[in-house]
Amino acid sequence: MQTTRSTRTVAAATAIAALAAAAALVGCASPASAPAADYDAELAAMMKASFHDRGIATVDRLVQDASDAACSQAMGQPLPAALAERLQQEAAATVRPPADGRYIGDWRAGEKLAQNGRGMTWTDKSAAPADNGANCYNCHQLAPQEISFGTIGPSLYGYGKQRGVTDLASATAKPIIEYTWAKLYNAKSYNACSGMPRFGAHRLLDDRQMADVMALLLDPQSPVNR
Ligand code: HEC
Repeated sequence: MQTTRSTRTVAAATAIAALAAAAALVGCASPASAPAADYDAELAAMMKASFHDRGIATVDRLVQDASDAACSQAMGQPLPAALAERLQQEAAATVRPPADGRYIGDWRAGEKLAQNGRGMTWTDKSAAPADNGANCYNCHQLAPQEISFGTIGPSLYGYGKQRGVTDLASATAKPIIEYTWAKLYNAKSYNACSGMPRFGAHRLLDDRQMADVMALLLDPQSPVNR
């Protein structure tokens, strides 16, 4: 289906109308004046009023950055090329190499992280990376041993092998390692409207956890590549 800005405006208007109807049903006064034209602002206000801080889950999560706002506005349609390019460059500028220079950790630890979807909910005590899983299986197939995986992202089974990574210390592996690190750090570096969490940029994982997940993807001994 073709989605357009007007469909969204209609959806917002319908939501507002439904709320007004619900308010009328429970005996509240429904707004007497004609609806305001700025449905985007009304919807934003409604969202803001519908949520409240709870534990570590705070309403500032509703605040969109420039790329989130542009991608919401585009509603699944491609962004204008120049805008996409600018947002990708801004995302790439956030990427930091691992502080200790170690891009590849332990794939066994990476596998545990990939299977672990814990973290960032209001019942979690802290938002520190140490308390988070990496949640990769929620969106990607990685190893064939895991029977439960999501398909929002492409299958990553054979990720390193398919890219010819046989020796992690080789010059041919280097650009693939650096690309993969940047993708994990801030997926919007290569795709302005990526739906993948920005693990490094948003401090969801620390450098060591990222290196462990990198090993899962790239180590020839990892179940991803065997
Ligand atoms: C919420 C869903 C989601 C989660 C969680 C997620 N990803 Fe992704 N990932 C995607 C989507 C969607 C794409 C494809 C679009 C894009 O390139 O950004 C993708 C793309 C990728 C790519 C690029 C593939 C290529 O061929 O270039 C890699 C590598 C990757 N993900 C690794 C991971 C790893 C490792 C994890 C866990 C640390 C992870 N992803 C968690 C959604 C997710």
